[in-house]
Amino acid sequence: MSQPFRIFATCDIGQEALQRLRDQGWALEVYEDPAPPTHELILSKVRGGIDALVTTLRDRIDEEVFAAGRAAGLKVVAQMAVGVDNIDRAAANRHRIPFTNTPDVLTDTTAEFAFFMMGCVARKTWPAEQMVREETWSTWHPQRPWLGDDVAGRTVAVIGTGRIGRSFVKKAIGFDMDVLLHAPRPDGAYLENVRRVLEARHAAGFTERQQRLEYLPLDDALARADFVSLHVPLTRPGESSEPTFHLIDERRLRKMKTTAYLVSTSRGPVVDEEALARALREGWIAGAALDVYAKEPLPADSPLRDSSLSLKLRLFPHCASATRATRLSPDPDVGMAGRAVQGVIDVLGGRYEGDLRRMPFVVNKEAF
Ligand code: GLV
Repeated sequence: MSQPFRIFATCDIGQEALQRLRDQGWALEVYEDPAPPTHELILSKVRGGIDALVTTLRDRIDEEVFAAGRAAGLKVVAQMAVGVDNIDRAAANRHRIPFTNTPDVLTDTTAEFAFFMMGCVARKTWPAEQMVREETWSTWHPQRPWLGDDVAGRTVAVIGTGRIGRSFVKKAIGFDMDVLLHAPRPDGAYLENVRRVLEARHAAGFTERQQRLEYLPLDDALARADFVSLHVPLTRPGESSEPTFHLIDERRLRKMKTTAYLVSTSRGPVVDEEALARALREGWIAGAALDVYAKEPLPADSPLRDSSLSLKLRLFPHCASATRATRLSPDPDVGMAGRAVQGVIDVLGGRYEGDLRRMPFVVNKEAF
């Protein structure tokens, strides 16, 4: 009798979803420590001949892993995340190993969190609660301790108009905002569709003035926005025609209004954190809210921890997709965990007649 497939998961992505792998009769080992395994441990599991590797965005899956995987028979890397910048696509392709991700199921969850982050920093909700808790709230006063800024009716620049960016746009429209879009390849049909919605809202009396929506070059969008929300994947030089590494650097921060706020739920290295800390300290922009960092967890010596920034900078622990259903549902149409295990089942189970290019969650289809 042939041996069952062997799978190593670098994290407990949720027992209900993982059970779907056990139910196939496959042998599953889960790395139970909440901290990520070392690169060496991942390599040793791959060298030991596992058939599938379930990863999270914390794991570096590089040339060494894929080379070892090819030698030892690794058949798929299934990542529980939509972002795959931790996986070396060129190396996966060289060794012809498919990797999968979990798009769609986290789109609205992530976009709504970005939206809440925008409100949180503009209306200073965290320092406000802190005052109550620390009993420094002395009296109701029309101007004290400080005033926030409105979100509704203002102008937001949405940088990156993929799934999550577009979901963010829907929420911004409901808040009567003008929306500036930036994407390497503007989508005229999308623009026209959304403009029809804006016209209908105005005609129905939802808004007193017609909301505006347009694509702009990045510098123009930054210069005109009251809020800037980042929804681009991380790409480094050589990985795409418009790499996003340090897309928001000193020059771009200086383009923004001094009254504007930056929100990022994309990937840390998209923002130059040193430049952002200076921008906040020196008042080039009014504030920022971040869910992602160049190094995670945020190091103790990060310039973003400067306590003089605490009123204008909100920091979150990479949790924009962190709702129970979105993270854990075993249903591949609902949860990231369900979608990650489905990636394994599609490949090991030879679904779609074994045609990797037809499998919906395989990212590097070009290699097959
Ligand atoms: C989270 O950051 C993800 O890429 O899914």
